Amino acid sequence: MSEKTEIVVCLGSSCFSRGNRKLVSAIQEYLTKNSLEEQVYFHGNHCFSNCSFGPIMKVNDMIYKDVDVLKVLDILDSHFKKF
Ligand code: FES
Repeated sequence: MSEKTEIVVCLGSSCFSRGNRKLVSAIQEYLTKNSLEEQVYFHGNHCFSNCSFGPIMKVNDMIYKDVDVLKVLDILDSHFKKF
């Protein structure tokens, strides 16, 4: 069995006030649309100690800062679309 890709969104209060909820919806929608739910372990985490750069998300070992809804789609494409 291949390893799952881990996607983590910071659910800390600072990232919350910077719009992390929109990221969660956008990621869920992306995973559903591309039938990736089985290949991904998607969950939330507490503060990544990078609050002034939030919203923060992590894909495997890569941390992304200042993520918005447009940026999140590019990040997901870079991990899942192999052109
Ligand atoms: S609340 Fe998200 S990095 Fe601190």
